[in-house]
Amino acid sequence: MSLPRILHGFDRLLHGGDYNPDQWQRYPEVLAEDARLIELAGLNVVALGIFAWTSYEKREGVFEFGWLDRAMDSLGRAGKKVILSTPSGAKPVWMSLAYPEIRRVTREGLREPHTGRHNHCWSSPVFRAKVALINRKLAERYAGHPALAMWHVSNEYAGKCYCELCRTEFQRFLQRKYGSVEALNHAWWADFWSYGVSEFSEIDPRGGLPEGMQLDHHRFNNQQLIEFMRWEMQPLRELTPGIPCTTNFMGTHGGNDYSSIAEHVDLVADDQYPGYDAADPELARHAAAVSFKDDLYRAMKPDRPWMLMESSPDVQNWRKPMRLKRPGLHRLEMMQALAHGAEGTCYFQVRKGRGGSEKYHGAVIDHAGHEGTRVFRSIVELSHDYEKLTVLLGTRVRAEVAFLYDWEARWGFELSSGPVNHDNAYDRVSQAHYRPFWARGVAVDVLSSERDFSGYRLLVTPQLFLLKPGVAERIREFVAAGGVWVATHYTAYCDEFNRSFLGGLPGAGLRGVLGLWNEEVDSLHESMRRRITAVRPGEYDLPAELYAESVCEIVHLEGARALAVYAEDFYAGHPALTQHAFGRGQAFYHAARLSDLGLDAFYGGLVRELALERSIDGVLPPGVTAQRRRSEQDEFVFLLNFTQHPAQVALGAARYDNVLEQRPEAGTVTLPALGVCVLQRRR
Ligand code: GLA
Ligand code: GLA
Repeated sequence: MSLPRILHGFDRLLHGGDYNPDQWQRYPEVLAEDARLIELAGLNVVALGIFAWTSYEKREGVFEFGWLDRAMDSLGRAGKKVILSTPSGAKPVWMSLAYPEIRRVTREGLREPHTGRHNHCWSSPVFRAKVALINRKLAERYAGHPALAMWHVSNEYAGKCYCELCRTEFQRFLQRKYGSVEALNHAWWADFWSYGVSEFSEIDPRGGLPEGMQLDHHRFNNQQLIEFMRWEMQPLRELTPGIPCTTNFMGTHGGNDYSSIAEHVDLVADDQYPGYDAADPELARHAAAVSFKDDLYRAMKPDRPWMLMESSPDVQNWRKPMRLKRPGLHRLEMMQALAHGAEGTCYFQVRKGRGGSEKYHGAVIDHAGHEGTRVFRSIVELSHDYEKLTVLLGTRVRAEVAFLYDWEARWGFELSSGPVNHDNAYDRVSQAHYRPFWARGVAVDVLSSERDFSGYRLLVTPQLFLLKPGVAERIREFVAAGGVWVATHYTAYCDEFNRSFLGGLPGAGLRGVLGLWNEEVDSLHESMRRRITAVRPGEYDLPAELYAESVCEIVHLEGARALAVYAEDFYAGHPALTQHAFGRGQAFYHAARLSDLGLDAFYGGLVRELALERSIDGVLPPGVTAQRRRSEQDEFVFLLNFTQHPAQVALGAARYDNVLEQRPEAGTVTLPALGVCVLQRRR
């Protein structure tokens, strides 16, 4: 079944960006010129109104929508679709001054002055009332407007507030969750350092400890974010029921559990600024991390395409140095998103502001104000590509492999003093296990642990440290029924409260599924390696000698067999990689964090043994990935070259049409440096 369009009845890939006519009302000639340039650039969607609150309501209760009427009307007449934002990302100064409670309080107890953006209190009844009013006015005014196509609710929700209102809400959240302080004290292991409380009203998240409280505070904050977002959407849903609502996420930002937030929006939208640098020898590794995020975003809503809401057509002013995007790099970045199922890519920003802290951020239209710029031309060319790629509409990505990426597992892991010995340790290990699939063009869905993974053939769960209720049971059933599970070090250490499992790790019965007991964990310095030897070299493509880095668990076999063992240190001879037949399936355990070469060999062997589908036959050159989208009749293979050199890809016996070049393709395709090729063939 083909996927629905993001915008009902709009049969084009979305291509556009954030645009701020509110900042340019004194420059009618610029606005007129922008209309021409937006058309010339081939943009078809424009996001308006982000951070424009003072342009609607200069003084409390005095509303002015003339500028937006004109913008909506002229864009509508030109056939453009408008993504209209609610303005809550930045509050007006008058509001901050009249209602101090809307300003966040820091962890140190200081109420912030009016400053910046993305820093309002989600609990404040005053702020909620103000937001409801402005959102209702916007929805009332533009309901039925032919250009209104989507709601962009607020902007990049994030952060925490420690005011009294939020504290009371937190206490209520805990009361609902635990019912009694006894239950809470046990969950938080609160006898440690005398943290126990005798009333919910004694709880103060500013203290930051105990760890169980921090974990619950993350959950509470995420819940507040969802509640606030739903509050914002209420008038939109009521008055413009057919218009999809979304908000822009920020990749794998650690503070928000986007998997849970995604359940409350109609489509998933991401802001992506990878800062790809053509000269970076790690470009491909970096690109694979972005692909991992894309596979996470696509899989959040399997029945609706996702989109890039923001990306930069050129530099990001906040990066040092502010490297120009080399020719071809922007196209490559955008095609990568499409390859992973996006139905469009939008930019921050259509036009550079004349002032403000983002006046040097990349934009489609430069201060020069005309079409004669390198960046503008690159966008025009990309629009032509997008025309050719409308054949992608409705296509899906099908994966036989599921990865679990779980924000709560990550929180539990990161909050536990001890295990995390490198920056970004949760993501780094996930990405390391993902790269071998990327390099072979094997499709992956990345899911939260709450999602159903029973239909996949292979399940990979990097560092599933904290287990939510029921997850262990579902993994057990998956393997028993014939699934293949790959687990790693730091699996099933803690329950949902981040308390250690008792009776031997991995906990919650997974010890039996993996056929081993994990007794101890040795954590290595960044520069340290531990030698490992394969028990039967060649099995699962393992070389005779491989290495561990950063983590070496010492495990004892209880039914599993060792595929590789440590060759040095006092734990020499202990298993570093194991396999266990369980029910009709198999469970593998990486007690060691294998180096990339070891991981690549292991997964290469596994992909072959399981005969997992690949997007293309044949071996891909280093730094090149292949990703596939399919309709009922056709398949579309994206070949993406994240290297500075041309790369040759053998197509095997298959014959394709080259969609962008519009010519037949067979034998071998040569991708230019940073090049892209989209191949189509009948299935
Ligand atoms: C100090 C404290 C102990 C414990 C240890 C941990 O010595 O007195 O309570 O925290 O550190 O290393
Ligand atoms: C974020 C914001 C935008 C803009 C860009 C700049 O994604 O949502 O408003 O500030 O960053 O890169």
